[in-house]
Amino acid sequence: MIQSAVVPVAGLGTRLLPATKSQPKEMLPVARKPIVQYVVEELVSNGIQQVLFVTGRSKASIENHFDYDPELFQALTQANKQELLNDVDFARLKAQFFYTRQRMQRGLGDAILCGENFAGEEPFLVALGDSILGLNAVSRAVSRMADVFEAKRASCVVAVEEVPREETSHYGIVQPEQGGDDVFRVLNLIEKPAPEQAPSNLAIAGRYIFSPVIFDMIRRVKPDKKGEIQLTDAMQLLCDEGRRVMAVKLTPEEKRYDIGNFPSYFESFVEFALADPVYGAEFRRTLERLLAKKSAAV
Ligand code: G1P
Repeated sequence: MIQSAVVPVAGLGTRLLPATKSQPKEMLPVARKPIVQYVVEELVSNGIQQVLFVTGRSKASIENHFDYDPELFQALTQANKQELLNDVDFARLKAQFFYTRQRMQRGLGDAILCGENFAGEEPFLVALGDSILGLNAVSRAVSRMADVFEAKRASCVVAVEEVPREETSHYGIVQPEQGGDDVFRVLNLIEKPAPEQAPSNLAIAGRYIFSPVIFDMIRRVKPDKKGEIQLTDAMQLLCDEGRRVMAVKLTPEEKRYDIGNFPSYFESFVEFALADPVYGAEFRRTLERLLAKKSAAV
């Protein structure tokens, strides 16, 4: 059972400026909740009990979000707003939150290294704070990954999803031992390859389980052209040493909502808003009206 998760949230969010000028991209709302709340709810529903956020400057609102706010609680209690109280009562999640800062922007690998003492001798999960798995974060992917980690005595299990060939340069891409399966061994990995260099169209999808041996591998990785320590390169070192790196494919229902850029952020917001139990139906009519107006004008 994997009980600890490291959630890197230190990125600058430059692809979402100006929205992220003074607030973390992980706090942008997708319909009703900030992204990072979906991530935490997904982790907790898969058995995670302790979460370490690796933060950076101007990320304090994440800490505030999961904190107890006595004045808000009192106001909502007095107004008898029980449902809203539940929505902001993170004690109900029964998870413990920890925070540490990545002092310099030195890449994802370096951010994970900040979790070394937190993880200790136990295997741990890494969940990227800008990726939601499944509509409303309903996903068992992490539990399936944990099962594979144990059954295969792996050093790493990574979630993967199929992406269009022409988009491989946005992702870490894995080379499967043999293709087609839902669970397979990974032979090699390459970070953001051009389509002609990509060994497959299976992209790393923001969830990883590692044995603590990954920390030694990260320390051995040389910085890339931008001076960043890539986590994917540390995973390649695991493969080079003959350690078992496994991949678990996300199901279509577990599609990854990526909040790292505007097109997929917009799409995620609209999809979640359409699924809202209270406002979804009305929002659908509004969208249809707007689209009809637009096509009449064309
Ligand atoms: C990171 C990883 C990459 C992965 C992607 C989506 O890239 O480095 O391997 O495919 O997340 O999970 P980023 O989007 O931070 O550039």
